[in-house]
Amino acid sequence: MTEKTLPAYRPGRILFSKGEIDARVRELAGGIAAETCGGGLLAVGILNGAAIFLSDLVRCMPPELDVQIDFMSISSYGSATRTSGTVRILKDLGGDIAGRDVLVVEDIIDTGLTLSHLLDVLRTRRPASLRTCVLLDKSTRREAAVKVDYCGFTVPDAFVIGYGLDCAGKWRHLSDIRTAEPWTAE
Ligand code: PRP
Repeated sequence: MTEKTLPAYRPGRILFSKGEIDARVRELAGGIAAETCGGGLLAVGILNGAAIFLSDLVRCMPPELDVQIDFMSISSYGSATRTSGTVRILKDLGGDIAGRDVLVVEDIIDTGLTLSHLLDVLRTRRPASLRTCVLLDKSTRREAAVKVDYCGFTVPDAFVIGYGLDCAGKWRHLSDIRTAEPWTAE
């Protein structure tokens, strides 16, 4: 028999179902749209985790709102389990954000170090406004003060996967959000 490397984790119990996520994303989009003035909105997704959330979020916004999207890819310095808060930009925005109303969209905020540093970087580019929208907030783990303007759900300090969140690159495609459970071979 060929020896196989088993994954260290597998999907566990559902924390938020597809229906719960869909409903919350609709509410968030409504709140954001209501608080966006006529100049429109540039929604900036932070790859890779926020891609799915941002895609659903902007599609819940009303057609009369001028919504544009862009993405950034960043690499956080630090260990595998802890970010240092110093980010290196791997893919930058496609255009200038000076004078724009910018909404940074993240799948999860944990220590807050990544988002805090990213906001510092974006502020130097002089947007008209800079708001944050995170789907999941592990608020008990916060180390850096970050103003989260829109939050989907608060989550406990557990390893969560699905709806963009990964475990070693896997499980982002799950339509619900689950815990990741240690794999035990039968
Ligand atoms: C996740 C998440 C944030 C960061 C939050 O990204 O998308 O960018 O971690 O952690 P912090 O609040 O402790 O700084 P990750 O590095 O897992 O990359 P990914 O988006 O590609 O999954």
